[in-house]
Amino acid sequence: MTSPILITGAAGFIGFHTALGLLQAGKHVVGVDNLNDYYDVSLKKARLRELDNFEHFTFVKENIANYEGMEKLWSTHGPFKQVVQLAAQAGVRYSLKNPHSYVQSNLVGHLNVLELCRYTEGFEHLVYASSSSVYGKNTKLPYAVEDRVDQPVSLYAATKRGGELMSHSYSHLYDLPQTGLRFFTVYGPWGRPDMSPYIFTKAIIEGKKVPIFNEGDMKRDFTYIDDIISGVLAVLETPPTKENEDDIPYRVLNIGNNRSENLMDYVAAIEKAVGKKAEIELLPMQAGDVKETYADIDETTHLTGYKPTTSIDEGIPKYVTWFKDYYGA
Ligand SMILES: NC(=O)c1ccc[n+]([C@@H]2O[C@H](COP(=O)([O-])OP(=O)(O)OC[C@H]3O[C@@H](n4cnc5c(N)ncnc54)[C@H](O)[C@@H]3O)[C@@H](O)[C@H]2O)c1
Repeated sequence: MTSPILITGAAGFIGFHTALGLLQAGKHVVGVDNLNDYYDVSLKKARLRELDNFEHFTFVKENIANYEGMEKLWSTHGPFKQVVQLAAQAGVRYSLKNPHSYVQSNLVGHLNVLELCRYTEGFEHLVYASSSSVYGKNTKLPYAVEDRVDQPVSLYAATKRGGELMSHSYSHLYDLPQTGLRFFTVYGPWGRPDMSPYIFTKAIIEGKKVPIFNEGDMKRDFTYIDDIISGVLAVLETPPTKENEDDIPYRVLNIGNNRSENLMDYVAAIEKAVGKKAEIELLPMQAGDVKETYADIDETTHLTGYKPTTSIDEGIPKYVTWFKDYYGA
């Protein structure tokens, strides 16, 4: 039996798919999630039911911001030498409404995971989720990891950048091997109901208005979940190493599609997959949002062989098929 890999946020969209990918590869996975009600808890439970089909999957309901609970998890089911830290309070817009939940999950929770990794003998690799939102007011495209990331436009982005900085200090102080992944708008089956694929698909199917912000003048580097998972798994098996004594086993990588799509083309792909025209409602830009995202993934490809292959014309129909099947639409 291989030693267990811990996935935090295992009932979440990316955590579920990461767990599934590892289990299908024959790994032993322990998943933790507090199953909070930021969005429909029944979707999180349905994802867990899929994972429960695997013998080598164990789920523990815990809040990563609760250090005692996480210590107990580590001593009961660990120690974990590989950790994929995906538990977080996600969503840009909600950070205007409930800022404290971001600090608890994304900063206190992240520190707890760092502390537990720090004290694990022979620790191999912590891969944690950051976000393209850290690029904030940066306007240079495509976004490269060397670009400025000190001008966040939402508290969500600020906590994600804060997590990266905390991680850097732990790699520097304790030689903790870590990779931060800046995800770019991930979509696909089992996706989050607070994100645009769900909101647009549901509205088009129900013949309701589709809210389009910044009057449609937006671009996103939409990345299909299967591409993301192949990247996460490749990264996990490729921990950063020290080139010399002064080096730090730490890196941050972009994980996107390297194609920035017009929002209206993306809506058209959903219309085509649903087989119905959208009733568009053009709205102004929302606070905290950015106009365009576009990932430079050269380094990720160079280091791990990551190569996304799914265009929206291929990925959106797969999402819509899942949506209709899951929601019985
Ligand atoms: N989906 C995207 O497009 C995207 C883009 C950029 C970054 N990210 C990051 O990727 C990670 C995963 O995102 P996702 O889309 O799967 O989101 P998600 O909300 O579906 O998954 C996060 C999971 O973490 C759990 N969680 C939250 N706080 C917790 C806590 N304190 N303790 C235990 N569990 C907790 C939630 O219940 C949820 O199941 C997050 O860190 C997110 O910030 C996602």
